[in-house]
Amino acid sequence: MPATTSVTLNTGAVMPTVGLGTWKSKPGQVEHAVEFALKNGYTHIDTAAGYQNETEVGQGIKASGLPREKVFLTTKLDNPDQRHPAKALEASLKKLDTPYLDLWLMHWPAPMTRDGQPDKGHDWLDTWKVMEDLYLAHPEKLKAIGVSNFSVEYFERLLKVARVVPAVNQIELHPSCPQDDVVAYCQNKGIVLTAYSPLGSDNSPLLKNETVTKIAAKYGVQPANVLISLHANKPMHTVLPKSVTNERILNNAKIIDLTPEEIGELHDIDKTHHFRACHPSWTGFGGLGFPDCK
Ligand code: A2P
Repeated sequence: MPATTSVTLNTGAVMPTVGLGTWKSKPGQVEHAVEFALKNGYTHIDTAAGYQNETEVGQGIKASGLPREKVFLTTKLDNPDQRHPAKALEASLKKLDTPYLDLWLMHWPAPMTRDGQPDKGHDWLDTWKVMEDLYLAHPEKLKAIGVSNFSVEYFERLLKVARVVPAVNQIELHPSCPQDDVVAYCQNKGIVLTAYSPLGSDNSPLLKNETVTKIAAKYGVQPANVLISLHANKPMHTVLPKSVTNERILNNAKIIDLTPEEIGELHDIDKTHHFRACHPSWTGFGGLGFPDCK
C-alpha cells in the first residue's frame, strides 16, 4: 500500500496525514514554526491548552495567510479543565482566534487539580459526556471530538456508553513504543490513530538506531523521514513530528513508501529497545491501562 497523504475520519472529514506537532514548542518559537510550516505545504497543526502555546499557534496560522478552512487544527482539553469543558473550549477558541476546531481531544483520561494533583473526585467519563453534548449542540464550533492517551481498558469503559465514537486516539507511537493492542483496537472500531513523539522526542536514540539509519540510507533520506513515514504506511494513521527548525520542518514533510519487510524490521526494534517519551504516571493515575506501564 502506498503511503497515505490523508485519512478520513468517522465524521467523513479529511485529516492530513502529517501535521506539525507543537508539544514542547515554546512561545517565541512556535508562531514562526507554524507560519513556516503552513507556508511550505503543511495543512495540519496540533496543539493543546496544556502546551500553553495556543495564542502563538493562532498567530502563526494568521501570519501564514492560509484561509482557516485550509488548515486542520486540533487542540486538547487540559486535565485541570475536566470539570468545566465548555469554559475551556471557549478559552481555546479565543486563544487560537478561530471560530471552530477541526478536532478537540480529551488530553488524558485523568482529571487533575490546578496544583498538579489527581482530581479523584471527578470521573473522566462525565467529562466525555459534556464533550459529546458540546459537539452535538455546536457543530459550528466542533467538527470532531476524540481522545488522547487512551488504552484498550479505557476505551472499553468509554464505548459502553458513548453516543459519539471518538474520531481519533492520539497516543505516543514510534518503533520503541508500538502499542499494538490499542492500535488494532482503534483500527477495528474505525478510530484514527495519531502518533505523537514519532521521532521519540528530544535526543531520541531512534535517530541513531541502526535499522532506521540503514533504511534511511537506502532511500537517501534522513532517519526522521523513515520514522514519520512508518505511520503514513499504516492504515488509519496520522503523525505529528515536532520541530521549530525550518530545515527540519521542510524535511519532515517528505514521506516515502516502505516495504512490508521494512515495516516489520522497524516494528521489531521494540523487542530490544523499548521506551516512552511520556509516561502516563505523571498524572497520578498510574499506567492508565497501558500494558507496558504496569
Ligand atoms: P527541534 O524542534 O529543535 O527541531 P518528536 O516529534 O518525536 O517529538 O521529536 C521532536 C524532537 O526531534 C525535537 O527535539 C526536534 O528538534 C527534533 N527533530 C525534529 N525533526 C528532526 C529531524 N528531521 N532530525 C533530527 N531531529 C529532529
